[in-house]
Amino acid sequence: MNQRQRFIRACRSQPVDRPPVWVMRQAGRHLPEYRKLKEKYSFHEIAQTPELALEVTMQPLRRYDMDAAIIFTDILVIPEALGQPYGFPKGGGIEMDFAIESEADIDRLSPEGVREKLAYVAEALKLVRAELGDQRALIGFGGSPWTLATYMIEGGSSKEKERARELFYTDRPLFDRLMQKITDALVDYLHMQIEAGADVIQLFDSWGGALAPDAFEGASVRWMREIVDALPDDVPTIVFSKGMHDHTDALVSTGADVLGVGWTARLEEVKARLPDDVAVQGNLDPVVMNTTPELVEREATKILGAMKDYDGHIFNLGHGISPRCRIECMEALVETVSNFSG
Ligand code: CP3
Repeated sequence: MNQRQRFIRACRSQPVDRPPVWVMRQAGRHLPEYRKLKEKYSFHEIAQTPELALEVTMQPLRRYDMDAAIIFTDILVIPEALGQPYGFPKGGGIEMDFAIESEADIDRLSPEGVREKLAYVAEALKLVRAELGDQRALIGFGGSPWTLATYMIEGGSSKEKERARELFYTDRPLFDRLMQKITDALVDYLHMQIEAGADVIQLFDSWGGALAPDAFEGASVRWMREIVDALPDDVPTIVFSKGMHDHTDALVSTGADVLGVGWTARLEEVKARLPDDVAVQGNLDPVVMNTTPELVEREATKILGAMKDYDGHIFNLGHGISPRCRIECMEALVETVSNFSG
């Protein structure tokens, strides 16, 4: 079984020789070769130039023998395609060009022409697919509608997503109109990614955990379900809803094949609550990657041991990599998972 087959089989909860490994935000800021490219080109320039996006997507795979690659782009290309551009202010975080404050702002967003506006993502995927051949899996992705809406309504990064949550409670028809536009754009965009060569689609519901339990269905889950429903059955989907691992019924109801799990859960307990055909992805605490290879091996082995009797486990961090991640730690992680034999 090659690495691509191993990855896809694990997504479908079929037996594999060992869990596949890949790491979120892999191109992140911990690689000198990425930082060097960033001295010359902006994030947008890299993401919008297929040859540069190919290069940055491949950088971590040249160093680490992971089973899958994730295409280099950002979840925020969807608000941008809808008419709300984004940027990275000096102090960190995200800044949108404006915040959605009124009905008129929502009416101005246009989900038409998403494929044309984001054609550069399809071009980059085709280049990566050609380079990977059938050897390693290629992950396409998008933000969940709720996570994108938080950036759009707040006008950028925010701590508690207060304005987005307020709109959900105070004006559901307006909230739903915004969500429908985002969802329609995502469905079109993710189909395009699949046609361009993505094997698997991941939805990042990074801010699902900001919602009250009773709001989770209406504000996030139903929109992810609409997207998963619209995608072809033979393309596995991964839903990562950070902090919401207790809401397994809701997450399973999206139809996802795999649930991404953050580091605050015991992965084996989440897996035990799921139907057999739903796999899990996770969940090493990302800060362990900033410590030592010995600690990485110890902590990763704990997770592998706890999961060894289950099919359907993709080894991953519980969230993105920190710029402080050490290269020796990444090497130790991939080696530990690759050599694990239970
Ligand atoms: O692994 C990869 O590099 C794949 C591409 C990828 C990026 N963003 C590139 C990126 C992926 C999968 C994402 C997802 C993403 N983007 C999410 C969901 C996942 C998660 O972490 O919860 C979210 C919420 C975003 C929005 C976003 N983009 C944030 C919050 C930031 C950090 C801003 C900051 O500096 O504080 C980004 C920037 C970003 N997107 C970087 C990368 C590699 C770092 C850019 C840099 O500084 O070079």
